Amino acid sequence: MDEAGGHSIHGRRFHGLQQLLFLALLCFSFLLCSAGEESLSRRRSHVQRHLKRLNKPAVKNIQSPDGDTIDCVHVSNQPAFDHPFLKDHAIQMRPSFHPERIYDENKVEELSGRKSSTMAQMWHQNGRCPENTIPIRRTKGEDLLRANSAKRYGRKKHREPPKPNSVDSETNNGGGHQHAIAYVEGDRYYGAKATINVWNPKIQQSNEFSLSQFWILGGPLGGDFNSIEAGWQVSPDLYGDNNTRLFTYWTSDAYQATGCYNLLCSGFVQINTEIALGGSIFPISAYHGSQYDISILIWKDPKGGNWWMQFGNDYVLGYWPSSLFSYLADSATMIEWGGEVVNSGADGRHTSTQMGSGHFPEEGFAKASYFRNIQIVDDSNNLRAPDGIDSFTEQSNCYDLENGNNGEWGTYFYYGGPGRSENCQ
Ligand SMILES: *[C@@H]1O[C@H](CO)[C@@H](O)[C@H](O)[C@H]1NC(C)=O
Repeated sequence: MDEAGGHSIHGRRFHGLQQLLFLALLCFSFLLCSAGEESLSRRRSHVQRHLKRLNKPAVKNIQSPDGDTIDCVHVSNQPAFDHPFLKDHAIQMRPSFHPERIYDENKVEELSGRKSSTMAQMWHQNGRCPENTIPIRRTKGEDLLRANSAKRYGRKKHREPPKPNSVDSETNNGGGHQHAIAYVEGDRYYGAKATINVWNPKIQQSNEFSLSQFWILGGPLGGDFNSIEAGWQVSPDLYGDNNTRLFTYWTSDAYQATGCYNLLCSGFVQINTEIALGGSIFPISAYHGSQYDISILIWKDPKGGNWWMQFGNDYVLGYWPSSLFSYLADSATMIEWGGEVVNSGADGRHTSTQMGSGHFPEEGFAKASYFRNIQIVDDSNNLRAPDGIDSFTEQSNCYDLENGNNGEWGTYFYYGGPGRSENCQ
């Protein structure tokens, strides 16, 4: 009995201890939960504030079939004018110089070439923006919530440009960015142009991307370099889907505190009513089928020094004011053209994220992706083929590049690859 009684006392004590522990756990988890809720609601209000800063009051909005909302924002209300350097900026509605022609804004040019004549953005199917407005892809709360920090949404996570000359290339590096690029350096450059084949490469994981672009770089790549970039990209993290989208990027401090994609921060001054940065490009090339490409020209206006961008033959999109930059306020020291992907190295293996069409350059036209009519603007403001290009890839067994030259395509290259394969682990 005693023993049994003793046991029962022990038992009761034990039971009391359990209750105490249980209560302590309950309190602890409650504290955790309420702390979590607090940070979640703080995050939500932070997101709301950030959205308000990003999305300007619209004159009209257009629902795109791809799920985007396009806001038509009055040209004088655009994000650029939030920039401290651009508070009293007098907007320029046309460049004073164009390296290809005397620019006449009243002249409606025929689109040349059957390929580009059908090139459009998906949202055009549901309307156009009125005069004196610019189309801006509206940022949604979910876009910001996908980013680790709302503040860094629209900014690069990986803060390095392709570095062709570096020995410590990211070969086999797990979280590595991989490139297949052509480049020129060693001169002063005042612009660049290329016609880029448009594809929809598959992305294995949502934290990866695949893009095809060119970089206009000023300053030492190891230091505080400046960069202006444009092309197409597939980036689930940035856009919440796998569409191929037109994009731009700029930085004046090696991707640290300045710059962003598209109009996701203040900087780029847009004047064009028809093209939305970050908007889906349509249609897309098919393997062994119809091929589509986009031309992008970026040049420095000798008067005022702003860097202008043109999409296709007719769309002068706008400019990056010279005052945003240090090195590029003078000239560029390097131009790079090509593809970049993120290989997240899931399970220590190369992922199957594609570059270009997902096929190797040796397959050629309508199978591999290309850049053609690659040109630079030289120090006499002439748009011309570069004297020669070098190329660079980290792992040519995963993504490769082959360049060439002919009468029709000038300086060109095929590039890309499938990522993970028998030869790319
Ligand atoms: C993007 O494509 C991948 C497969 O390539 C798929 O797993 C993923 O769900 C897609 N993401 C979106 C947002 O559609």
